[in-house]
Amino acid sequence: MNRLPVVPWTLSAGMLLAPFSASAEPHPGKVLHDKANCMKCHAEKPYNPQKTTSYPKLVKAVQFCNDNLNTGYWEDEVEQIADYLNSQYYKFEKP
Ligand code: HEC
Repeated sequence: MNRLPVVPWTLSAGMLLAPFSASAEPHPGKVLHDKANCMKCHAEKPYNPQKTTSYPKLVKAVQFCNDNLNTGYWEDEVEQIADYLNSQYYKFEKP
C-alpha cells in the first residue's frame, strides 16, 4: 500500500485553496442583492445618492423595497445589502 503521498497532497491542496477562496468571496450583500433580483427594477432606476442622501436612509430604502417585494430578508441581511450598495454606489460615511 502506498499511503505516504496522500498526506502531502492534502496539505498542499488546502494551502492553495484557502487563500484563493478567501479573496474570491463576494460581498454577502451582493449575493443577497443578486438573489432578490433587485436589478429587475434598478437597472432602469439606478441607485442615486442625490435621492437617498445618508446611510440610515439607504438602509430604510432597502427595507422599503424588501417589504414591498415581500423578499423577507431579516434586518441583518438588509444591513448587508445596504453596506454593499453603499460600497458600490453611495459611498456614505457610515454612522
Ligand atoms: C418592482 C421594482 C423594484 C424592485 C424589484 C426593487 N426595487 Fe428598489 N425601488 C423601487 C422603486 C419604485 C423605488 C422608489 C425610488 C425610485 O423611484 O427610484 C425604489 C427605491 C430603492 C432605493 C433608493 C433609490 C435611490 O435612488 O437611492 C434603494 C436603495 C432600493 N430601492 C433598493 C432595492 C433593493 C436592495 C432591492 C432588492 C431587494 C430592490 N430595491 C428591488 C422599485 C424596485
